[in-house]
Amino acid sequence: VPIRDAVAEDWQRIWPFWHRIVAAGQTYVWDRDTAEARARQLWMSNESVYVVEEDGAIVASAYTRPNYGSGPSSHVANAAFMVDPDHAGKGYGRRLAEHALDRAKEHYRAMVFNAVVETNPAVRLWLSLGFTVIGTILRAFRHPVHGPVGLYVMYRDL
Ligand SMILES: CC(C)(COP(=O)(O)OP(=O)(O)OC[C@H]1O[C@@H](n2cnc3c(N)ncnc32)[C@H](O)[C@@H]1OP(=O)(O)O)[C@@H](O)C(=O)NCCC(=O)NCCS
Repeated sequence: VPIRDAVAEDWQRIWPFWHRIVAAGQTYVWDRDTAEARARQLWMSNESVYVVEEDGAIVASAYTRPNYGSGPSSHVANAAFMVDPDHAGKGYGRRLAEHALDRAKEHYRAMVFNAVVETNPAVRLWLSLGFTVIGTILRAFRHPVHGPVGLYVMYRDL
């Protein structure tokens, strides 16, 4: 699948699934009501932003950035991933993650996920890609179906 760096105009085709995923309130800590302009800032202003295109449609996006800014921990990356729910389960998430990891290896020595909802099926994907759960922030996420659940901090060397 073609994975490329995002350009500013891609946002209008990311926003519909971004909004759907965040409004569902099951996987991200962002406010479910996050307005479009704020969402664009949260996603598109990151250091590296990628999109996956299928037949001219954008079906997934990811970003990578320094997890702790430009100081002494600037070698530690963070990333986030979203696949359009209409296109989930087709391997885009895995391929996008592999791409982001490969690119991150050029500049970073480790990657951290700060807040992986423990009930998210994505946990299995991250484990299979070499991440480990290094801690759980207990009951830190109010899940609309499961109630209070933990947030995992996940880590992997690059
Ligand atoms: C998590 C996400 C990025 C995975 O992308 P995807 O394209 O659906 O996943 P893939 O098709 O690449 O599948 C990857 C693996 O995860 C598993 N998986 C992913 N989503 C799953 C789900 N909803 N239910 C069950 N298994 C799932 C698959 O079994 C698959 O395993 P395999 O590669 O060994 O077959 C995507 O579902 C998504 O955007 N979810 C909402 C936002 C989110 O949770 N982002 C991650 C926050 S930590």
